[in-house]
This record gives sequence, structure tokens and C-alpha cells, in this order.
Amino acid sequence: MIKKAVIPAAGWGTRFLPATKAIPKEMLPLVDKPAIQYIVEEAVTAGIEDILIITSRNKKAIEDHFDRFPDLENFLKSKKKENLLGLIKMIAQMAEIHYIRQKEQLGLGHAVLCARKFVGQDPFAVLLGDDIVINEPNCLQQLMAVFKETQGVVIAVQEVTREEVNRYGIIDPASENDRLFLVKDMVEKPLPERAPSNLAIIGRYILLPEIFPVLAKIPPGAGGEIQLTDALKVLARQGKVYAYKFQGRRYDVGDKLGFLQATVEFALTHPELAAPFKAYLTTLLSSKTGFQEVATGREI
Ligand code: G1P
Repeated sequence: MIKKAVIPAAGWGTRFLPATKAIPKEMLPLVDKPAIQYIVEEAVTAGIEDILIITSRNKKAIEDHFDRFPDLENFLKSKKKENLLGLIKMIAQMAEIHYIRQKEQLGLGHAVLCARKFVGQDPFAVLLGDDIVINEPNCLQQLMAVFKETQGVVIAVQEVTREEVNRYGIIDPASENDRLFLVKDMVEKPLPERAPSNLAIIGRYILLPEIFPVLAKIPPGAGGEIQLTDALKVLARQGKVYAYKFQGRRYDVGDKLGFLQATVEFALTHPELAAPFKAYLTTLLSSKTGFQEVATGREI
């Protein structure tokens, strides 16, 4: 059973500046919940008990979010806002959350290496905050089911277009069985003409502690960063890495368009917002000049 997970959250969030100048990008809300809470909830649903969040300077809001807040709890209690009170308390009780700072932003591989002591000798999960997957069973649960069978490293993959391969780690599959691939090689952010497939690594991994000595030795790769993909490539060449084409809808919330798509779609399933928001969108879309009027700031 996998009980430990690592969530790297040390990046600058440059794609969302200026919003992320003072607020961690992981705290940007999708409707009313910060992105990182979706990730923590996925891990907890999959049975994770201990989570290490890799942070950096200016990430204090993440620690505050997963902490108790007695003053706010007392205030909500005095106002008889029991639902909100339950919600706020639950966040601090979901899992045992630990923090470590990545002292220099040297890449995803380096961030994962910061988890070495926390992980010890156990298999562990890595969840990247930019990827949110909606499905039951969730993405991590699907990888765990594969791990139960293979006992090897398992990476989540998804098909992307040729134009998009340079945004991802791309696997070179040796064989396929249903949705499961044995991986023989992989490359981080290849040019489309160099990509060995269109199967892109999405931010969910089940790793084994043997990744750490490899991570400690590999030189910087794509973008001058220590890449997790480069360490996984070493293990793949030894025949120890599997990739699983997970089921579910995935949102790249590290990208502005993906963030907006997730916001709109989550709002359409939100218990209080779904009906009025749908009505609003319907009006907007059915009004012949709706978009134009929004763009010019006139009322519709
Ligand atoms: C990271 C990984 C990459 C993976 C991607 C998934 O890249 O290095 O292999 O495909 O996450 O989101 P990043 O998006 O941090 O540049």
C-alpha cells in the first residue's frame, strides 16, 4: 500500500504573473477551492496518509491553508455557519501534511530529490499541481491499481497532438497491453520531429526510492533544469518503468486557457452555482452580439 505522496509546489508561477507575485499559484482558486486542495483531496481519496509539499519562499499561504484557524472557527461558530465551519476544519484534518523548502529552483527532479528523507524505503506518489484530473476512480487510484500488478514505476500518460509534445515529457513505448505500456525510453520536451510518440507524461507518478540515487547524479537537462524525466529514462532503459493511459478529463491549470476551462466546467457542477451560471452562459451564447458586448463592456 502506498501511503506517502509528494507535491512539488516551489515554482515561480510566472505564467500567472502578476497574480502570483504575492500569492502562490497553487492557491489560485478554481471556483472556491485552491488548486492544491484538489490535488491533496485526490491523494487522500487514494489512501495517502502523509503528504510532503515541496515549497519555496513566498509559499506561506499553502501552510496556512492546511492549518487550523481557531479565530475563524470561533467566528463561524458564533455566526452559526456550521457548513463553512465543517469545511474549514476538514481541510486541516485530511492528512498529515509536511513541508520542506527547495532552497534553489533547480528543476522538478531536484524538487523530488528534496523528498528523499521523507520517503525512506517506501514506494511513493508524486502529484503535480498543474494537472487536475476528474474521474472516479481518480487518476492516482488508477495508477495504484496498476502498481499493485506491476510493482514497478508507473507514470500517467495521455495522448497529445504533435504540436503539443514540446510541452511535456514524451515516452517511447516498447509494448502496449490495453492502456498499459512498458516504457523503453523517454525524452523531456522534444521537438515534434524528435518525439518518439504522442504519449505525454501527465503529472501523476508512482515512484520507487531507487529513483533518488539516479536523481542525485543526473546533470541538468531540458531548460538547464534537473529533470525527473531524465532520471526515469535511466530506470526505463533497465525495463522498470510502466506508463498508464489513465481515464478521465484532465485540465492543465498551469495554463491560462486550461485554468479558465476548469473554472467554467467546475462552476457548471457546483451545487450552488450550476443553475445560475448555466443560465448566464446560455444568455451570453444565445445573444447574437453577446460576446461583442462583453468585449466592449456593455450590458447584455
Ligand atoms: C513537468 C514534467 C513533464 C510533464 C509535465 C506534466 O513539466 O517535467 O515531463 O510532462 O510536468 O504537466 P512542467 O510542466 O513542469 O514543465
